[in-house]
Amino acid sequence: MAAASESLRGELAAALDRRFGDADGLAAAAPHHALGGLTALATHRVIRGYSDRPVDPALVRLLCAAALSAPSKSDMQARDLIVVTEAATRERLVELCGKDHWMPSAPVWIVACGNHRRQRQIHEWRGPEFVNDHLDAFFNASVDAAIVLGWFVAAAETAGLGCCPISQIRNHPREVSELLGLPDRVFPVAGLTLGWPANAGVLSPRLPLAATVHHERFDDGSIRELVDGYDRRRHAMMPYRRQRDVARFGEATLYGWSEDKARQYAEPQRADFGAYVRAQGFKLD
Ligand SMILES: Cc1cc2nc3c(=O)[nH]c(=O)nc-3n(C[C@H](O)[C@H](O)[C@H](O)COP(=O)(O)O)c2cc1C
Repeated sequence: MAAASESLRGELAAALDRRFGDADGLAAAAPHHALGGLTALATHRVIRGYSDRPVDPALVRLLCAAALSAPSKSDMQARDLIVVTEAATRERLVELCGKDHWMPSAPVWIVACGNHRRQRQIHEWRGPEFVNDHLDAFFNASVDAAIVLGWFVAAAETAGLGCCPISQIRNHPREVSELLGLPDRVFPVAGLTLGWPANAGVLSPRLPLAATVHHERFDDGSIRELVDGYDRRRHAMMPYRRQRDVARFGEATLYGWSEDKARQYAEPQRADFGAYVRAQGFKLD
């Protein structure tokens, strides 16, 4: 028993070390009873590629229930999950999400949606007028949906399933809304592919805790050096397989995370998403 939990502590220490590079000794702080849960979170990795093994619909429903147990702003519960298993709908989602080669292997898609429609229905049923028609309504629903998405990932991984969130679902939000029958004031926040893993995935290094955990006050005084260090550490451990847009930006000697993010967002992406959200019935000011 003690040996098993010490081996879990070793696994946690190794994951934190690889993940952050500055988490030395942190695993020692894990209470004995929390080792399993914390190791499960710390060893997260997305899975892109699934086996033929079917996923029990009851298990999917259980994962939905676990995910929807997440906290929700003012208990408004302004989020829903859409479970997609029908082949034709999955195929269309794959098309709309850019047809990444591994996507068709996912036997289940979950779409996490913000749902502000219910709140408006409640006002109609109960009488008091809704007088908060501004950005907050969209923001609350987006945050609620994002939290549920994160909890779904954690729940699925606990069960041994693999998943990958898909923001590409917002590439064609109108078509996705039509496909899934999303009415006004309901919108996709992210898709999620789900299935039994066909590969082990890779534990991906994150920015060091020194860059992303602030104590008492925000402080990014050393951010440039920390990002440079992260670029080098990550490049040594998990180099990018290809550089974006070499024709435009050239071949970088050290193609790190910051170079990749800079090149990624030098391309317009989903510039019309605001227009879609407004058309779904939200005011964004
Ligand atoms: C909201 C959200 C949207 C994402 N969208 C996509 C996507 O469209 N396609 C994809 O392949 N991965 C997507 N990902 C997965 C991220 O690329 C992945 O989480 C990140 O590279 C870190 O890898 P890791 O989660 O394995 O640590 C998304 C993740 C999140 C949280």
